[in-house]
Amino acid sequence: MDIRSYLAKKKELVDKALEALVPPAKTFPPAVFEAMRYSLFAGGKRVRPILAVAAAEALGAKTAGLLPAAGALELIHTYSLVHDDLPAMDDDDLRRGRPTCHKVYGEAIAILAGDGLLTMAFEALSDPRRLKAIPAPRLLAIIRELATASGVFGMVGGQVVDIQSEGKEMDLPTLEYIHTHKTGALIRASVRVGALYAGAGERQFAALSRYGELVGLAFQIADDILDLTGKEEEIGKDVGSDLEKGKMTFPGFYGLEESRRRAVEVVDKAVAVLKGFDKKADPLRELARYIITRVN
Ligand code: IPE
Ligand code: IPE
Ligand code: MG
Ligand code: MG
Ligand code: MG
Repeated sequence: MDIRSYLAKKKELVDKALEALVPPAKTFPPAVFEAMRYSLFAGGKRVRPILAVAAAEALGAKTAGLLPAAGALELIHTYSLVHDDLPAMDDDDLRRGRPTCHKVYGEAIAILAGDGLLTMAFEALSDPRRLKAIPAPRLLAIIRELATASGVFGMVGGQVVDIQSEGKEMDLPTLEYIHTHKTGALIRASVRVGALYAGAGERQFAALSRYGELVGLAFQIADDILDLTGKEEEIGKDVGSDLEKGKMTFPGFYGLEESRRRAVEVVDKAVAVLKGFDKKADPLRELARYIITRVN
């Protein structure tokens, strides 16, 4: 299969779902809707919603009913980027190839746009008209999955330790905590949302969870590598931001070559975990490879 065309096709579906979830920019009060849409429709890869869709497909499910929940994943992810870039956090000027949200709309509106995106995800997920394709107990499990993965036991916890570790001597347990939480948690949750939607059995759910965990870790190792070796025109963000901030990163701890080797090792494990799945899981296998070979 051709992963590039798979990604392009799914991205189109996700973007349509997002367009249906987020009100027009002129909605009152326009500043916040404009800022939300500015960051959301700046051209993200949509990896998290696509992972959810691919996980559901791996289990043979039709995925149209999953798209609003997949869109909610992207709303949460985009909120995390808007806040991550703020002067009090990573203080970055470029995101998705554009000036960061706070550079354009100011810090107060960027904070509120992030709040708006996060809250809208849960508003969408709990809207019975939008999610009538998902039986209530499954939907409740999906909502809880997203809340846990984005909150203090997941992404927020990872971001806290990331910030507190700036400039500190690196150690492996802390580095792994940061990566598996700030990024890994939402990626794992994305795969699990697809699995929950499709009604995965216990063993399938465990395997897909492990796959998501490994792919989430590999994703952040690749992100660290791109921060060092990427081109600004390709990654659409400031290059060298981690070094400047004294961040705890894989290349900082292991060096570039060993980090690359580890990323491959983690992805090999993720693919191996899927051995009990048939060819409907090929997009998941290819996505795992793509995550460490991407240039943005
Ligand atoms: C960047 O995420 C931030 C991390 C959690 C590593 P992505 O690389 O998925 O960014 P977009 O969504 O494509 O812009
Ligand atoms: C991103 O980590 C984590 C979240 C946004 C939750 P980074 O700070 O490394 O992400 P980039 O490199 O700014 O996209
Ligand atoms: Mg950060
Ligand atoms: Mg950052
Ligand atoms: Mg980074």
